[in-house]
Amino acid sequence: MRQDALETVLPQTEIRDLTKALNFPFKPEALWLEIGFGNGDSLAAWHREHPRIGFIGCEPFINGVAHLCKLVADDDLSNLRIWRDIAQPLLAAIPDGVFERIYILNSDPWPKKKHHRRRVIQQDTLDALWRVMRAGGSLIVTTDHQSLAEWTIEQTLRHGKFEWTAKSQADWQTPPEGWLPTRYEGKGATAGRQQSYLIFRKPV
Ligand SMILES: C[S@@+](CC[C@H](N)C(=O)[O-])C[C@H]1O[C@@H](n2cnc3c(N)ncnc32)[C@H](O)[C@@H]1O
Repeated sequence: MRQDALETVLPQTEIRDLTKALNFPFKPEALWLEIGFGNGDSLAAWHREHPRIGFIGCEPFINGVAHLCKLVADDDLSNLRIWRDIAQPLLAAIPDGVFERIYILNSDPWPKKKHHRRRVIQQDTLDALWRVMRAGGSLIVTTDHQSLAEWTIEQTLRHGKFEWTAKSQADWQTPPEGWLPTRYEGKGATAGRQQSYLIFRKPV
């Protein structure tokens, strides 16, 4: 079943040529990117809810891609494009100032200090994210891992160009309105871990 979905969905959605990553068959009102979509539950729901937005999802884990394909197999796929790899080469190929939103939800925490270099949020990735975001756009990073939350805040503030939108603890402990918890967010909640919702803006 998953194999069938891969075979029908990927030919319509997969980004094969990075120079054509933003080639949607219509002019989207805005572009949203999700990095590390895992099982793709959020991406599947968003693309249905917002048919005029162009979505790009990137995920190197083939079972996750297959799961997303299964979820969207019966949908109109014109607003969805999938990059089956890590985000960095995709980001490098994207022109400046295009994404209105970028989501990085519950990325791998890499808790050991010697593995921190593997975390998605790094200064060079922040440079790339900054470049591809439009002014006024949002970078939405969530995690249930306290050390990764602290790392994300430190790295982003050190980068110096993003504005952290939180004004109080409640702002980063409360999900934005209409939020869909991800699979990993659900696992963290079951284990009693506090989820952080960190929203950074590229100033206008
Ligand atoms: C812990 S899972 C979270 C999945 C999903 N976002 C969720 O919250 O349920 C992290 C995902 O990020 C993906 N990933 C890791 N490094 C990545 C990178 N550099 N670019 C894109 N995805 C990445 C992994 O394959 C994995 O599926």
